[in-house]
Amino acid sequence: MKLFIDTANVEEIRRANEMGIISGVTTNPSLIAKEGRDFKQVVAEIAEIVDGPISAEVISMKAEEMVPEAIELSKIHENIVIKIPMCEEGLKAVKILKNEGIKTNVTLIFSVNQALLAARAGASYVSPFAGRVDDVGQNGMDIIRDIAKVFHIYQMNCEIIAASIRHPMHVTEAALAGAHISTVPFDVIKKMISHPLTDIGINKFLADWEKLNESLKRGR
Ligand code: E4P
Repeated sequence: MKLFIDTANVEEIRRANEMGIISGVTTNPSLIAKEGRDFKQVVAEIAEIVDGPISAEVISMKAEEMVPEAIELSKIHENIVIKIPMCEEGLKAVKILKNEGIKTNVTLIFSVNQALLAARAGASYVSPFAGRVDDVGQNGMDIIRDIAKVFHIYQMNCEIIAASIRHPMHVTEAALAGAHISTVPFDVIKKMISHPLTDIGINKFLADWEKLNESLKRGR
């Protein structure tokens, strides 16, 4: 399973990219708003850092407006993938954009049927929001597992991005459920890196090394 980072914060993206762990980036209007900076400028900066798909979302709710907005965004960089909200107008826009050679990521997916429709319309990616499903007392990973099963049975050419990832176990579960990609916030990436036994192990190795140096010095 590939990892994307789910943020519009350029510094976080730079740090994750330096570790060599991410192959793409997802943003959304809320993440962009959090940065308080010009949308296109932020997306352009991200595309300079990461060599992989960068999702940028349209704001329009009519296909006839989504399409020109998407075309404008796709001019920023060849790696831009257009995020389209799941709805009838969105599916129409996905079909048109596919014919224009523009890749789409259908977002706000909460059911297998929505994923199936998005893939049939020609989306390159679907983004089921696991965490938000968990928030309403259902199991988000069950939906991802079922989408993966259906896409596999019918050999659908559409990748599943496990989204709304809230903690490290979500990432493990998404991998086991068959998601192609997990898009992970930076704070979750940091939690994935650390383990208390790793810290204890590093400290012990360093302390033992220090002890050796001291005993060698004393022996001189
Ligand atoms: C995915 O593409 C979305 O940007 C994101 O994962 C939403 O996560 P949230 O539910 O934590 O806002």
